[in-house]
Amino acid sequence: MKILVTGGAGFIGSNFINYWLSKHVEDNVINLDKLTYAANPNYVWHEHFKGRYTLVQGDITDSNLVEQLVNDSDCIVNFAAESHVDNSIGMPGQFISSNYVGTFTLLEAARKSDVRFHQISTDEVFGSLPIDSAELFNENTSYHPNNPYSASKAGADLLVRSYVNTYGLNATISNCSNNFGPNQHAEKLIPKTIVLASKNQKIPLYGNGLQIRDWIYVEDHCRAIEKVLLNGKKGESYLVSARNEQRNIDVVKMILSLMNKDYSLIDFVKDRPGHDVRYAIDPTKIETELGWKPKYNFSNALEITVKHYMHFLISP
Ligand SMILES: NC(=O)c1ccc[n+]([C@@H]2O[C@H](COP(=O)([O-])OP(=O)(O)OC[C@H]3O[C@@H](n4cnc5c(N)ncnc54)[C@H](O)[C@@H]3O)[C@@H](O)[C@H]2O)c1
Repeated sequence: MKILVTGGAGFIGSNFINYWLSKHVEDNVINLDKLTYAANPNYVWHEHFKGRYTLVQGDITDSNLVEQLVNDSDCIVNFAAESHVDNSIGMPGQFISSNYVGTFTLLEAARKSDVRFHQISTDEVFGSLPIDSAELFNENTSYHPNNPYSASKAGADLLVRSYVNTYGLNATISNCSNNFGPNQHAEKLIPKTIVLASKNQKIPLYGNGLQIRDWIYVEDHCRAIEKVLLNGKKGESYLVSARNEQRNIDVVKMILSLMNKDYSLIDFVKDRPGHDVRYAIDPTKIETELGWKPKYNFSNALEITVKHYMHFLISP
């Protein structure tokens, strides 16, 4: 199979390419990435995959380039996005362009060439759950995005659905919870905490730190995408989570303990406007229909992640 991966020089996309090309040794990947501040071309083990991997620097809103690449592919996996909620509050236009118009451009090319399409989406499209409830998001939960990032992703998901319904496009969507692991930009909670703690600098934590996120190790997410690509049903959405709800403050404290640092490094700062308080996913559908389940346990995966970043901080 020749897969067109978009955004493959970012966090999850690079982990996906490394996972896929290591496991599917006959396959080829073209990585279309704009190489924004969040990207690093060296995240993909390109030396290791010589002859099977090509990086194309470009924008998914460039319809000529996209059509040319899609024409030559068996399948598209769209990771490309502006991904940081805080940035979406300051510069929403870039989020609408990359996340919404970019997905539209890819869908148009997929429709014209009749190419299988998979959209990487997020649990943030569903909005926020009450902090003290047992309620979980599932595939029937209605969309209720609360910030420009989640709204741009929600709009893109709806476009994908419309292309299945209107044009019969063979497309699927996966909505995953919060990822962590190697190659994540230092603006995100877990790498930010590790980097700042390593320098004994204050770690800003929004509000009271009691917000809940549902954490999954990135390799488990990559294996879920593999299941959906190979066995997912046209037009279906699959919610992905390791059933691992954690309060932000507890995640930061776990990292500080792993690094033998004092909790006094935590600095509570003014909360993000409209901050969602809790995300939590019920992954029963992907578990029962596609036989996926996570391999990693949270505390072990967190320890692997801390060691990974410390290695690069010591010898970048
Ligand atoms: N990180 C998470 O916890 C998480 C959870 C669920 C879903 N997602 C989704 O997974 C996808 C990847 O997220 P990530 O955390 O790896 O993001 P990231 O910010 O680390 O990487 C995004 C990549 O997309 C590229 N990109 C951005 N705009 C582009 C454009 N217009 N054209 C081409 N390339 C462009 C960037 O250069 C970068 O390499 C996103 O769609 C995100 O919404 C992320």
